[in-house]
Amino acid sequence: MSTTRNAFLTTFKHITRPAPTSSANATARVPRVTKPIVSAPMNGWSGPNLVATVANHGGFPIYPIGYYTDPSKILKDLQSIPPLLNDPESDNDGQQDTDVFMPYAVGFISFWLDLKGPELLRSILKGQGDHPDRRSAPRPPAAIWFAFGDYKPFLEFVREYGAVGTKIFVQVQTVQEALEAQEQGVDVVVLQGTEAGGHGAQRVSPLMTLLPETVQALKDKVASNSSLQMPVVLAAGGISTAAQVTAVQAMGASGVVVGTGFMPTFESHGAQHAKERLLRTSDGGANTVRTRIFDELREFDYPAGYDGRVVRNLLTDREEDDLKYCGLYEQKGQAAFKLLKGDRTGTKQDYERAVKEQDYDLLPLWCGTGVGMLNKQVSAAEFMDQLMVNQQQ
Ligand SMILES: Cc1cc2nc3c(=O)[nH]c(=O)nc-3n(C[C@H](O)[C@H](O)[C@H](O)COP(=O)(O)O)c2cc1C
Repeated sequence: MSTTRNAFLTTFKHITRPAPTSSANATARVPRVTKPIVSAPMNGWSGPNLVATVANHGGFPIYPIGYYTDPSKILKDLQSIPPLLNDPESDNDGQQDTDVFMPYAVGFISFWLDLKGPELLRSILKGQGDHPDRRSAPRPPAAIWFAFGDYKPFLEFVREYGAVGTKIFVQVQTVQEALEAQEQGVDVVVLQGTEAGGHGAQRVSPLMTLLPETVQALKDKVASNSSLQMPVVLAAGGISTAAQVTAVQAMGASGVVVGTGFMPTFESHGAQHAKERLLRTSDGGANTVRTRIFDELREFDYPAGYDGRVVRNLLTDREEDDLKYCGLYEQKGQAAFKLLKGDRTGTKQDYERAVKEQDYDLLPLWCGTGVGMLNKQVSAAEFMDQLMVNQQQ
């Protein structure tokens, strides 16, 4: 395994599990993270079941915080994860717990965290150690993930309140943002290309160029400034196959962050009819589209510069028609939407009905261009095995 590829696994080698019982030393522990595969924080899709399955199979999952209104629901959800892990790391054998961390990260949307304040982040970093049932009490997550918006005000917070060794992931979309994350001493920089499902940047290149340009820029900085470190670099966006994993490794990534590929698996949270719609979607670049229309309709105040990739549907087609009709297609952006908002009343009502009926002709089915390569429903573990076929473990 090359050094770059090792960087990710080395970073998480302190997340351990009991060694097989046949081991001579009953208290021996081995690394839990053995595959350079991170399951993305997918709001509404990655719940405790998917998180536990990915962790149990040697990957590193991110539990998504999303746009929460009730922090207690999230804490309850997190409490349901430890019993799902293969070897619930409790002290029921009378031994002292040897691990500080849970084998997953918790993913925050930075601009939402900014709106809501850091209380939930503090509880999560504390690890809910005062839960009455110690077996259900999650210890702190091994890492915190930030995406979309300014994460910098929260870095000190994680460093102050997190256990020593808590890692920080930041998902970025440009070379400049990656260099900033490096300067901030972030442990893992996730490069999200335009192929990615869900939210991302409006102005972003495909991974094919974003990844090598960024890796070179990060290396150049280390060469010219000895106080800077090379962060672990992961690639995100459109990755559904083992060949793509190998390709991004060849371009300097230590591993991959995969969202869409986990969506149709049995363990994800989504509705079965939505999973089937994904499996039927081919030609991922042609049949998905980046848009802000759903954030406009939900009146989510996403910071400027972000949109999200969804499967094309009646609403995205209508959006394009509207914009063409208004002669604004070329200037698709905030101004165009403001001009069109008056026309949107009917659409908004349709949308509210669709939410009730889970109608993906109108609802956003967030997903990346890699959807075209997914055509059979499998378990999350089987999907991970497919991604790993070219790797020497
Ligand atoms: C359904 C869905 C929901 C997502 N939700 C989040 C989220 O809540 N927070 C986040 O940081 N990224 C989110 N993302 C983006 C992922 O972090 C990641 O960049 C993306 O899934 C990678 O591209 P891929 O989906 O093509 O594999 C989401 C992606 C999808 C597909």
